[in-house]
Amino acid sequence: MKIGNHIFEKGAALAPMAGVTDAAFRALCRSYGAVYTVSEMVSVKGLTFGDRKSRQLLALGEDELPAAIQLFGDDPDCWKKAIPMALESAPQAAFIDINMGCPAPKIAGSGGGAALMKDLALAGRIIETAVSVSPLPVTVKMRLGWDDSLRNAPQLARIAQEAGAAAICVHGRTREQMYSPPVDIEGIAAVRAEVTIPVIANGDVTDSATALQMLRRTGCDLVMVGRGALGHPWVFAEIAAALKGEPLPAVPAPEERLEIMVEHIRQICRNKGEYVGIREARKHAAWYLKGFPGAAGLRKDCGELASVEDALRLRDKALSLMIAQEREGSFCGSL
Ligand SMILES: Cc1cc2nc3c(=O)[nH]c(=O)nc-3n(C[C@H](O)[C@H](O)[C@H](O)COP(=O)(O)O)c2cc1C
Repeated sequence: MKIGNHIFEKGAALAPMAGVTDAAFRALCRSYGAVYTVSEMVSVKGLTFGDRKSRQLLALGEDELPAAIQLFGDDPDCWKKAIPMALESAPQAAFIDINMGCPAPKIAGSGGGAALMKDLALAGRIIETAVSVSPLPVTVKMRLGWDDSLRNAPQLARIAQEAGAAAICVHGRTREQMYSPPVDIEGIAAVRAEVTIPVIANGDVTDSATALQMLRRTGCDLVMVGRGALGHPWVFAEIAAALKGEPLPAVPAPEERLEIMVEHIRQICRNKGEYVGIREARKHAAWYLKGFPGAAGLRKDCGELASVEDALRLRDKALSLMIAQEREGSFCGSL
C-alpha cells in the first residue's frame, strides 16, 4: 500500500487515540511491526495560537517512524496557517491526517471532527486547503456518517479524492454510534467501492482473524487497529505475520507481558517525567493486567500507581497471584 512516496508493508497501522497513543506507545507498537503510527490529534486553532502543548504532541521520535500527524479543526484559514507550523514540530512526518471522525462533544460540538460530515462543502474546502499548502500527502480519517439518517462516507471519500487526498481511513460506525455496536463492514466496503485511492479499514480489528476478515470483506488496502492494541501491542506482529502468510508469533507469556508493561511504563516516565508519566501509565497498566488472576484488585492498584517502584511492586504482585493460582490449579498459565 502506498501513501505518497511511502510504501507500507503488509500489516496494520496504529490508530490515533488521544490520551493513549503517545510517543512511548507509538514506538512500542512500531517495534512490533505497526506499519505506521499517527500522532494524537492536535487542534489547528491551538497551533495558530502558538499553543506549546499542541506542538509537543506533534513531536515524533525516530523509533516511531513512519508516522503521520493528525490535525483537527473546522476553519480552512487555520488549516492554511497551521500546517507549516505543524511540520516545524514534526519535520519527519510521512503525511498529514485530517480528523473528520472524532465524536467527542468537545471536538464535534464546535464543528470539527465528525461534525464535518454534516457539512461536506466545508469538509471539501478543508481538504483542498490542506492539500494546497502541505508538501506532504494528506489523508482523511472519517466515520460512516453522522447518524443513521446521514451515512455519507462514500460521498465524503469521493470529495476527498477529488480534492487530492492520498488515502482515506474509515471507521465503520457513525458518530452517533460512538464505539459500541459492532463495526459495519459493508459500510466500509461501500467507501472502498467509491474511490480509487487507498482505503484503510478501521473498527474492531483485534487479531489476525478479524484483520483478514476485514480485508477480505471490504477489499481495503490496510487495516488500522486502535483498542485492540491496548495492553496488546504485540497484536501488530500477529497481524503482519498472518497477512504475509508466515507462522503466527507466539503470544507473549504472562511473565513476558508483565515485563513489557514495566518497560512501557518506564518509557512513559522517561518521556514525561515520573509524576505525569505514572499517572498516564495507570490506564495502560490496567489494560496489560486484564485477564490476570485477581484482576479486579490489580485494577485498583493500577489506579493508585504513583511511581515506577509501585509499577515494579504491581508486577511482582501479579506474578505471585498467578503462581498461587497455578499451584491451586485454577490458572492454566495463559491469558
Ligand atoms: C481513547 C480513544 C481516543 C481516540 N482518539 C482519536 C483521535 O485522536 N483521532 C482519531 O481519528 N480517532 C481517535 N479515536 C478513534 C480510533 O482511532 C479508532 O477509529 C476507533 O477506536 C475504532 O477503532 P478500534 O475498534 O480499532 O478501536 C480514539 C479512540 C479511542 C478509544
